[in-house]
Amino acid sequence: MTRNIPREELDLQLPFYEKVRQHYMNTKPESPPLACIRTFGCQQNVADSEHIKGMLAQMGFGFTEEVEEADFILFNTCAVREHACDRVFGNVGALKHIKRRRPEVLIAVCGCMVQQPHVAEKLKESYPFVGLVFGTHVIHRFPELMWQALNQRRQLSVTPAEDGVIAEGLPTHRDGTFKAWLPIMYGCNNFCTYCIVPYVRGRERSRDPEIILAEARELVAQGYKEITLLGQNVNSYGKGESHGVNFAELLRRINAIPGDFTIRFMTSHPKDASRELFDTIAACQKVSRHFHLPFQSGNDRVLKAMNRHYDRRQYLDLVSYARKVVPDISFTSDVIVGFPGETREEFEDTLSLVKEVGFTSLFTFIFSPRKGTPAAEMDDPVPMKTKTAWFQELSALQEEISAERLAQLVGTEQRALLETAEDGYIEARLASNSVVRVEADPALVGRYATIRIDDARSWIMHGTVLSVE
Ligand code: SAM
Ligand code: SF4
Ligand code: F3S
Repeated sequence: MTRNIPREELDLQLPFYEKVRQHYMNTKPESPPLACIRTFGCQQNVADSEHIKGMLAQMGFGFTEEVEEADFILFNTCAVREHACDRVFGNVGALKHIKRRRPEVLIAVCGCMVQQPHVAEKLKESYPFVGLVFGTHVIHRFPELMWQALNQRRQLSVTPAEDGVIAEGLPTHRDGTFKAWLPIMYGCNNFCTYCIVPYVRGRERSRDPEIILAEARELVAQGYKEITLLGQNVNSYGKGESHGVNFAELLRRINAIPGDFTIRFMTSHPKDASRELFDTIAACQKVSRHFHLPFQSGNDRVLKAMNRHYDRRQYLDLVSYARKVVPDISFTSDVIVGFPGETREEFEDTLSLVKEVGFTSLFTFIFSPRKGTPAAEMDDPVPMKTKTAWFQELSALQEEISAERLAQLVGTEQRALLETAEDGYIEARLASNSVVRVEADPALVGRYATIRIDDARSWIMHGTVLSVE
């Protein structure tokens, strides 16, 4: 069962907010201190960064995108693939000259990467100019850690293994004004053999439904138009808890909150996607008709070796059931190419599944061995050159499918959220997650519009705004 950290324990942080604020008032009285936060990885990290920014704001910080003008620089890191880790080391290395020129700057690294002992070790040995390293389970202690790091010369590194707790009530500084992330659970119990997440995020634990509902109500009252519920496997929300609210029930309760808003969620694991869930989506009008359902491989032997606990048939059955009860549902997915030992024939099963389902879009990754996971120890005879060729073949196939799917929308009218203004265009997002470009007043960003789709080119559509809500 999940344990929320008691209020009294969280309150121990309060004096440190003031101490850090005083530190900067004394050392930099002319203007408020600035923080530059760079977030890598998934929305879970984005949500964590919003809490860290909330705490910094309470310490008197403003924010900047420029490391050159920041007094505090934080990299919130991702460990899911080697490429993500390399990028972070490259970026952190580039900060050395800033620390040399401005020794008072505090550089910090947090997130999933530093939960791996070999990474924490490497930061200590080779990046001594990093003043603070803290893991995913101590974010609530950030004010105290920051204060300590400001007052010691050597690197402070705090990366304890998880203890199954949740810190509620942390301040939040949201990046968006109409789209919000709402974590409903943390961690993962699935141990897919290729994946590092369970090791760096700990065991699955669900937030209390009443706390989630209160936060959702507040977001709606603040005018947020889109709420995305977050978890590594949202379908197992509530498992092992005594409140008896499962994910479908949570969706129903959020859907019942009065107001004009859309509910999205990610990610779903096919092994726990129940028919009840699709029936719920059919019945809940505020739930977006889009489902991100990673399949990872279209071959049963590979799925078994990945420890995914479903097979190709079960996956396809889920998709057809969903399409029966929610005819306008669109699917996106994640897939791994070149899992250890995958043969050409097995890869072709992935190609055929992609054709059969017709995803709106696909996130395709080449297998990246993660230290400490079972797959990293498996025989992997297929050369990277071949994997890259397969990857390109799959991407080309998906591009064709995406183009076909978008072409089917030409001439239709679609409801979309006007999201970002750029170069005289606004990019609007349909329920299916596809993007359409329209010419419209940038002041309309954050509102829903009805758009006629005029044309479609492989990834992007162009349209005309017919009306704005
Ligand atoms: N919890 C989600 C699920 O099970 O679908 C996915 C979370 S993971 C952060 C996002 C995606 O990264 C996965 O769906 C998988 O396709 C990919 N991924 C994870 N580990 C990987 C690895 N070692 N190599 C390549 N891709 C990987
Ligand atoms: Fe990783 Fe699998 Fe958990 Fe997703 S379900 S986070 S892929 S272990
Ligand atoms: Fe990366 Fe951690 Fe998310 S490893 S994908 S940031 S949970």
